[in-house]
Amino acid sequence: MSTIHCTLIDASGTEHTIEAQAGESLMQAAVRHDIDGIAADCGGTLACATCHVRVQTPWLEQLPSTSDDERAMLDFTAETADASSRLSCQLVLSESLDGIVVRLPSTQH
Ligand code: FES
Repeated sequence: MSTIHCTLIDASGTEHTIEAQAGESLMQAAVRHDIDGIAADCGGTLACATCHVRVQTPWLEQLPSTSDDERAMLDFTAETADASSRLSCQLVLSESLDGIVVRLPSTQH
């Protein structure tokens, strides 16, 4: 299985680069690597909005569009969502996303 490198930049500007597997979500990979800035209280069932990330260019444009359910949950993020905001439990990683960079909000609660 191919390894996908993901960089998560926390609110203090520290970069965390983790290795993920194709087919897992960015949230799952972040939780497995104990990334503090991802809470993921609901375990990936689109019920908490505590896995909020801001996807950086050019990765944002490469993602599948946001589902209606994900868009609805983005109204409940602790830090106000913007056009780059996604819920990382909905971002399934594939080889084409190797190198993806996201920023983490200052809080998820
Ligand atoms: S983990 Fe709860 S909405 Fe993503």
